[in-house]
Amino acid sequence: MIVAAAVVHGDAVRFLRHSSAESPLALQLGGSDPRLLAAAARAGADAGFDEINLNVGCPSSRVRAGAFGACLMAQPELVAECVAAMKSVVNRPVTVKTRIGIDHRDSYEQLAKLVRLSAAAGAEVFAIHARKAWLSGLNPRQNRQLPPLNYETIYRLKRDFADLTIIINGGISDLGVAARHLEFVDGVMLGRAAYHDSALLADVDTALFDAHGKRAHRPHALRRYLAYADEQLAQGTPIGHLCKPLIGLYKGIPGAKSWRRALNEISRSGATHAGALRHAAESIEDRLMAVAA
Ligand SMILES: Cc1cc2nc3c(=O)[nH]c(=O)nc-3n(C[C@H](O)[C@H](O)[C@H](O)COP(=O)(O)O)c2cc1C
Repeated sequence: MIVAAAVVHGDAVRFLRHSSAESPLALQLGGSDPRLLAAAARAGADAGFDEINLNVGCPSSRVRAGAFGACLMAQPELVAECVAAMKSVVNRPVTVKTRIGIDHRDSYEQLAKLVRLSAAAGAEVFAIHARKAWLSGLNPRQNRQLPPLNYETIYRLKRDFADLTIIINGGISDLGVAARHLEFVDGVMLGRAAYHDSALLADVDTALFDAHGKRAHRPHALRRYLAYADEQLAQGTPIGHLCKPLIGLYKGIPGAKSWRRALNEISRSGATHAGALRHAAESIEDRLMAVAA
C-alpha cells in the first residue's frame, strides 16, 4: 500500500518505480480523499500499473489515524465516492481489497452494502480477507491471526453478486485448498504463503489452470530473480529487501537452513551487488544435485 498523499505530494517517481518483470502489477492506494486518490491513481496509471486497488482492509493504528484502510468499512458511501473518483480518471480496473467486517460492524448486510455501492461506482473486482478486524485492542499481526476465518460469507457474496469478480483471501497456503475455494469464488489471493513458501507458486499453472509444460523450476526462477536483483541493486534497492522474498524458497528441502543463514548474512552485509547471492544460489543447487545423484 502506498498512501495517496505521498504519491501526490512526495517523491512519486520513487514510490511508483517498478520493473517490467513485475507485470502485471496492481498499485494499492491508501486514502480517503477522493481527489487525492484520483490524482494518485492517475499517476499510477501513467507509471504503467495495470490495476489500481483501494485499501479498505488495513487495521494498523497509523492507518486508522489517517482515517483510511479498514476503518473505511464504516463509510461505504465514501468508499464508493473514492472508487468513482479514481475510475473517472483511469482506463484500467479499479478494485477494492477489504475484510468481512470491523469491530461490531460485521453483518453480512453491511459488507454487501459496501460491495453494492462500490460496484455501482465502478469497481468490478473485490479481494476480501475472510476475517473481521478489531480496530482497537489487536495489532495488525494479531488481526491476521486471531479473528476467526469465515469463508462462507465470501461464498455468499459471490452468490449474491454473480457478475462481480470475488477473490477470497486469508489463511490459504495449499493449492488443493485453493482449488476447492475456486468452486465457489473467482480467485484466491495468497498473502503469507507466497512469501513463506514461494516455490508453491511454481505449481499454480499446472495445479489450477491445467497448463502443461509451464512449471517454473526453482533454479530457473532463481536465475530470473537474480537478473531482477541486479537491476534493482543498480537503482539503489537495499539487498535486504531483495533477500526477503527468497527466504522461503527452499522450505522443507535439505539445505534450507543454511540457505536462510546465508541470506541473513547477505542482508546484513549491505552489499550493492548480487555476487554473494549468486554464490549462495549455486551452493544450494549444487548440494541438491549431489543429493539427487
Ligand atoms: C508483512 C505483511 C504486509 C502486508 N501488507 C499489506 C498491504 O500493504 N495491503 C494489503 O491489502 N494487505 C496487506 N497485508 C495483508 C495480506 O494481503 C493478506 O490480506 C493477509 O496476510 C491475509 O492473507 P494470508 O492469510 O494469505 O496471509 C500484509 C500482510 C503481511 C503479512
